[in-house]
Amino acid sequence: MPETIEKVAIQLTVNGKPHAVSVEPRMLLVELLREEFDLTGTHVGCDTTYCGACTVLMNGVTVKSCTVFAVQADGAEILTVEGLEKDGKLHPIQEAFGAAYGLQCGYCTPGLMLSAFQLVTKISEPSEQQIRKAIAGNTCRCTGYQNIFKAIRLASQNVKGV
Ligand code: FES
Ligand code: FES
Repeated sequence: MPETIEKVAIQLTVNGKPHAVSVEPRMLLVELLREEFDLTGTHVGCDTTYCGACTVLMNGVTVKSCTVFAVQADGAEILTVEGLEKDGKLHPIQEAFGAAYGLQCGYCTPGLMLSAFQLVTKISEPSEQQIRKAIAGNTCRCTGYQNIFKAIRLASQNVKGV
């Protein structure tokens, strides 16, 4: 007979919306977001905690949601890429990635946008060094980083203007 895994009740807020769910203790936050909440903008690009495609904000701090258990997010506020857009209007960071051609396939982009969000909402004019540090955990395999730097610089100007 297959072993039954007892589920754990958790509550969390995702993109401003409260959720109460029961999850297996081994469920990852990225699985909860994608499979239970259908927030598929959070991607999985590796199985080694390397790529950063799964980056989300947890209580205002970037985390790789493939290395956080869903139960660890009990009581937390989560922001995913879907939460950046408001009332059908793209967030200035999303606008900037488009305007500066900071993406090609887009697989890494949600994670990069959330790392950029954390940076530009804390530091209004980040230096190149600060941008490099902020996205050190995000890997892009196709755009090349020059346009991503441009996008983040533009994002910091756009956010200032909001
Ligand atoms: S999926 Fe690659 S770091 Fe999370
Ligand atoms: S845009 Fe393709 S991996 Fe970054």
